[in-house]
Amino acid sequence: MTHRSTRRTVLLATGAVTLAAGCSKYGDNSGSGSSSVNASGGQELAKTSEIPVGGGKIFKDQKVVVTQPKKDEFKAFSAICTHQGCTVSTVSGGTINCPCHGSKYHVADGSVAQGPAPKPLPPEQIEVDGNSIRLA
Ligand code: FES
Repeated sequence: MTHRSTRRTVLLATGAVTLAAGCSKYGDNSGSGSSSVNASGGQELAKTSEIPVGGGKIFKDQKVVVTQPKKDEFKAFSAICTHQGCTVSTVSGGTINCPCHGSKYHVADGSVAQGPAPKPLPPEQIEVDGNSIRLA
């Protein structure tokens, strides 16, 4: 009876699965004593001149992409790809582009121009105040 029992114990590093969900990065209203705010006080994202007509700009920290499909018409969308959650990386050729699997979204309305993204980028609220673009 030369039966060798080889025991392999594979320890999976569990427990490190942290659902990185509630990163409380949403606190815009940090100061309540704002004295000279002329709009609704949202965080300024950019100057209108920073957003190219027919293109857009990605704000990675805020996870927002702001586009200007036509002159003086500004739109904003979530910068999180609806496929698997990558942050979109470029805006070119009239589309917002995800680097992970090649999804593209139209700058005009966030709709899918090329899959595998299953649905449009959700819109975000912005306010254009003079030459300043703010999160609403
Ligand atoms: S996560 Fe964007 S294309 Fe897959």
